Amino acid sequence: MVKPSNRQPTHHHDCPIPPQLTTPSVANKLPPRTTTLPRSKRLAKTANTRYKVLMKILFLGDVAAAPGRKALSQFLPALRQKHALDVVIANGENAANGRGITLETANEIFAAGVDVITLGDHTFDQKGTEELLANSPKIIRPANYPSGTVGRGATTHTLSNGKKITVINLQGRVFINQQTDCPFQLSKRLMEEHILGQTCDALVIDIHAEATSEKTCLAHLWDGKATLVIGTHTHIPTADARIQPAGTAYQTDAGMCGDYQSSLGMSFASVLPNFFTRGRHAFQPATGEATLSGVIVEAGQGGLAEKIQPLRHGGVLQPTE
Ligand SMILES: [Fe+2]
Repeated sequence: MVKPSNRQPTHHHDCPIPPQLTTPSVANKLPPRTTTLPRSKRLAKTANTRYKVLMKILFLGDVAAAPGRKALSQFLPALRQKHALDVVIANGENAANGRGITLETANEIFAAGVDVITLGDHTFDQKGTEELLANSPKIIRPANYPSGTVGRGATTHTLSNGKKITVINLQGRVFINQQTDCPFQLSKRLMEEHILGQTCDALVIDIHAEATSEKTCLAHLWDGKATLVIGTHTHIPTADARIQPAGTAYQTDAGMCGDYQSSLGMSFASVLPNFFTRGRHAFQPATGEATLSGVIVEAGQGGLAEKIQPLRHGGVLQPTE
């Protein structure tokens, strides 16, 4: 007599259990499944894998008024050394009194150790910007401004070791009411002109935009074709720094280099009345200590990103180091 517990399942015409549920699973006989992990996960799994850093890039978000410029001068030289940075890019569209940029403020930013300045919707808020853009190849405005606009939307910076980094500036159209061409259509054309590993060793896109959806979609479009796509304009750093599946690093917004005890770099006292009443309310820049906010990206051979880490230094935001 066979004990019930040792009985093998049997099937016959009146068995209530369908045979397919009691026979050994066919899945066990299939070869093991291979999964393609996102690049970031693959890197995490092989944390000890060493890669050669081709270029170490710091991108800093919108430098807001005097506090932002002061923090750059104060902190950037030491940060450049500490992190062995090869190149520093900063968005400077709020450098002069919170709106636009001037020759003096641009020079202050360059003197602090920035190599390339990008801009955005406040590009033309100060007098003399046309002349500044015409004469400064390392200051770029959004590439999707209508043709005929003064200045350039991309620039290439050559490091002392001969490696080249191209920086492109784009401006979003969602919730920004300015006449600009489509940044997506233009990106398709720019991809044919600026090719990672051929025309440049690293490629950074600053997408100056309000909507997270627009920035994320542009980052996806450029995935595998740029070292870094970084958002600017909202002045608040987002917590989504990552390397996308095809190797392009991304963070939706770099944050600002400015006084965070303020409304995006403008004093609460000057901004709050605007929320209470309609009227002619002039915004005044905040004056407190600034936090430098941005990302450090390591480009590997071929120019794709191997690592992205946020950087926050000084002021009131939680520091990253
Ligand atoms: Fe902006």
